Amino acid sequence: MTDTPTRLTIRRPDDWHVHLRDGPVLEGVAKYTAQQFARAIVMPNLSPPVSTVEAARAYRTRIVAAAGPGFTPLMTAYLTDTIAADEVARGHAEGVFTAAKLYPAHATTGSAHGVTDVANIRGVLERMEAIGMPLLIHGEVTDAHVDIFDREAVFIERVLAPLVRDLPGLRVVFEHITTAEAAAFVTESGPNVAATITPQHLHINRNAMFAGGIRPHMYCLPVAKRELHRLALRKAATSGSPKFFLGTDSAPHAIGAKETACGCAGIFNAPYALESYLAVFEEEGALDKFEGFASLHGPAFYGLPVNAETVTLEKAPTLVPDQIDANGTPIVPFHAGETLGWRFVG
Ligand code: NCD
Ligand code: ZN
Repeated sequence: MTDTPTRLTIRRPDDWHVHLRDGPVLEGVAKYTAQQFARAIVMPNLSPPVSTVEAARAYRTRIVAAAGPGFTPLMTAYLTDTIAADEVARGHAEGVFTAAKLYPAHATTGSAHGVTDVANIRGVLERMEAIGMPLLIHGEVTDAHVDIFDREAVFIERVLAPLVRDLPGLRVVFEHITTAEAAAFVTESGPNVAATITPQHLHINRNAMFAGGIRPHMYCLPVAKRELHRLALRKAATSGSPKFFLGTDSAPHAIGAKETACGCAGIFNAPYALESYLAVFEEEGALDKFEGFASLHGPAFYGLPVNAETVTLEKAPTLVPDQIDANGTPIVPFHAGETLGWRFVG
């Protein structure tokens, strides 16, 4: 047995999928992401959604003000059935839209204005392919006849595989993958197809939502799957493949919006994101693969420079609080009440 190092220093990571919200909650949560990450791909599912260059520019200004210096938000366009290819391309050319996000309509929180059929945005996708703009996909079908645990696998078959085949030059990030099928699809696709993986999908399987009673804080979308899928995701994340990189999908909701008859989907993991991921890499004996996953593969895919600064984590018990006050909104973080084995030094 080899000794585990007690300190780990890596290039400063980026979060390639985060929900920062807006207003007072943005003020309360942005600092957590900015503390650990240099950049983050910010999801556009506000109400109303961020579907214009002007809205994204204004949102970016609010994020910069909330997060403080040293943090760069990378904005995304929320694709709708009617969004104009010119608007998306102009935002990209002006350095406002780093990427565009495809939410199938009604797939998840804030997706009511999403795309009802990818055929409706074919022109936008062709333009994105031509200009090299990444398409970020929430990969679940919304057909109520499809079992919720099968919606990602069915999406690959019905939507994603045909899309990647028809637009072979399109750069695609399959966001927050949750299944062995998704990991295999990404692995077998060309270098223009990659995926983000969240900490929760590496830690929990679907049992966590029902352990001794219903556990709303373990509920996010895509929903956690069977153990075999969690193990496949762990394998992918720690494989060293440049196709897999860090995207927390940190999605804060007020405690009252989670603990209710129809609770919101979303897990708030930003405050201890690196500690959470690192626990997985340690358990898998893959600490040497952590920097690639957290700090190198994402920039390489997006064609951005790797961050110059570093961050350090050390082996030390870190107690995660039961609740976090996000500027007046109480939120239950991922790992609430647990003690993690690593501590973020800075
Ligand atoms: C996200 C949210 O709350 O905005 N929720 C979630 O469960 N992940 C939306 C999303 O990314 O699906
Ligand atoms: Zn998300």
